[in-house]
Amino acid sequence: MTMASMAENTKQPTAAEKADKPNPAEGVKLGSNYLRGSISEELIDGNDHFGKASIALLKHHGTYQQDNRDERGQDGKVFSFMVRTAVPGGKLSSAQLLAELDLCDEVGNTTLRITARQGLQLHGVLKSNLKHAIGRINEVQLTTLAACGDVERNVMCSPCPYRADPVYDQMQELAKRLAVHLRPHTRAYHELWVTDQQTGDKWQAGGGANGQEIEPLYGPSYLPRKFKTAIGLPGDNSADVYSNDLGLLAVCENWSIVGYNVLVGGGFGVTPSAKKTFPAIGQPLCFVSPTQAVDVATSIIKVQRDFGNRSDRKVARMKYLIHNWGLARFKQKVEEYFGAALPPPRLITVHGFNDGMGWHEQGDGRWFYGLNVENGRIKDEGSFRLKSALRAIGGELAPPLRLTPHQSILFCDLTKQDRPRLEEILQLHGVPLSEEITQVRRWAMACPALPTCGLAITESERVLPGMIDQLEVELERLGLGDEVFTTRMTGCPNGCSRPYNSDIGLVGKTVGKYTIFLGGRRLGDRLNFIYKDLVPEKEVVPVLARVFAYFKDDRRQGETFGDFCDRVGKDDLLTHCDG
Ligand code: HEM
Ligand code: SF4
Repeated sequence: MTMASMAENTKQPTAAEKADKPNPAEGVKLGSNYLRGSISEELIDGNDHFGKASIALLKHHGTYQQDNRDERGQDGKVFSFMVRTAVPGGKLSSAQLLAELDLCDEVGNTTLRITARQGLQLHGVLKSNLKHAIGRINEVQLTTLAACGDVERNVMCSPCPYRADPVYDQMQELAKRLAVHLRPHTRAYHELWVTDQQTGDKWQAGGGANGQEIEPLYGPSYLPRKFKTAIGLPGDNSADVYSNDLGLLAVCENWSIVGYNVLVGGGFGVTPSAKKTFPAIGQPLCFVSPTQAVDVATSIIKVQRDFGNRSDRKVARMKYLIHNWGLARFKQKVEEYFGAALPPPRLITVHGFNDGMGWHEQGDGRWFYGLNVENGRIKDEGSFRLKSALRAIGGELAPPLRLTPHQSILFCDLTKQDRPRLEEILQLHGVPLSEEITQVRRWAMACPALPTCGLAITESERVLPGMIDQLEVELERLGLGDEVFTTRMTGCPNGCSRPYNSDIGLVGKTVGKYTIFLGGRRLGDRLNFIYKDLVPEKEVVPVLARVFAYFKDDRRQGETFGDFCDRVGKDDLLTHCDG
């Protein structure tokens, strides 16, 4: 080595060089040979956990290494894995759900969770059981591929199976096409998880189907960060399109989709210590025809792939690229990649949200029933035996299913005769019907947080039901029990249950304390604002009850809670309700 090159090696990087230096996660992806790394060696090394690089790669295979936070510090960490299944549009069969329920008993923590992005999560899977769990999921034609990681995640879609209104099926068809088109092509997934040890055959659910080694869309380092896509209707924004990197809002004429408004740059992850981070809702970019939608989506992802920030993961989501460039420059680049000018978005706004709860006619002589699942957690606990009820329904009626973006489930294609039997099975297992649940509980959701999530600062799923109990009492007292508003809680600012566009957002800030956000709404098209910070857990409901009392007295006719808070604003709310 020459003196000059030694000096070169020891020279401190300038600020500009530092800013451009790819972050370590980029090196891990690039050096992994398309998501292989040393996962296969580490799978059989006898340890109960993986090394840092494999942990990052494993996310792309649909699993997060976690440790039980309740048991931390006793005898070292107790490691296990969350295994997430991506279910495009939330569509799955009863047989598929039954297989996941079996897995949660065989290798999980005996519960299964419906996620806020229409997926399924197993928790508590030991490393020694990972291969079995992921293999079994593929056996029933589901996949965990790309359920996490720096790739297109589960494609969401308004889930209701209305057959008389073809737009619902048209959206689902696009969700499927997008999911297949944007899936990683690496064969690593099949090699690792779904090779039949006896025959060497590979099951065909996700990844590697065309046998290519290379990734035509993603390239060797995939995307700078995760990428989320959702499809919705102006009359049904249940997929929360504005909270996604890419939202497709259908433009309908004569009961058919003539195209989509493309919304870009939504995303909710925030790091409070980093001022440069912020939640954002998507902005309309252009209009696309149904046949162009996949190509335009691909062009948008390519722009993020090539120009998104690969140095600083905190600002690597597409919302920051759009913030830095401005929408006009971003659009120009997308047009360059797409190869044609894109027409401006149509003038449409969202005006409805259908969570599908209760009984609905599908329009083909059959019915679907939406069952509210509190925080998406499927379990048997005491007299509440939802897991057993789902087994009974799956075994006897075997309806096709849809998972909803509000962590709930739709039983589809039921006949008139099936209706009383479905209700009977639920009641026999102590599961409240959706009609028996208060509005506040129906429209609330929490992220998992403690004990599984490594990033949780506060409780979320374990405390929200108790807070809702208290809120129910307050709302009843005020005569506001029928009000419809969304309450969304998270155990840290990352925003997994989408708390930044809801009527009420409760975000874990420090141990036992929450930031209260107000002024969003169920339609999901507006960010809320910080009403109060660092509110102790016990104070959350009393603080909210004072705002509800003011709302009761001063609301305009028909005004929703979120619209009221947004209209009067933070200062006025504090003047009237603080103290
Ligand atoms: C820096 C940002 C984020 C990180 C590092 C992160 C990480 C995680 C982790 C570790 C889990 C697993 C928790 C468990 O099951 O124990 C999780 C769950 C989840 N995350 Fe995130 N997350 C982030 C932001 C978001 C955002 C912005 C959304 C959607 C708007 C989201 C959607 C979800 C969903 C749907 C789940 C499944 C559980 C549920 O339904 O709440 N995440 N996330
Ligand atoms: S919001 Fe935070 S605590 Fe909740 S699941 Fe996401 S990362 Fe974990």
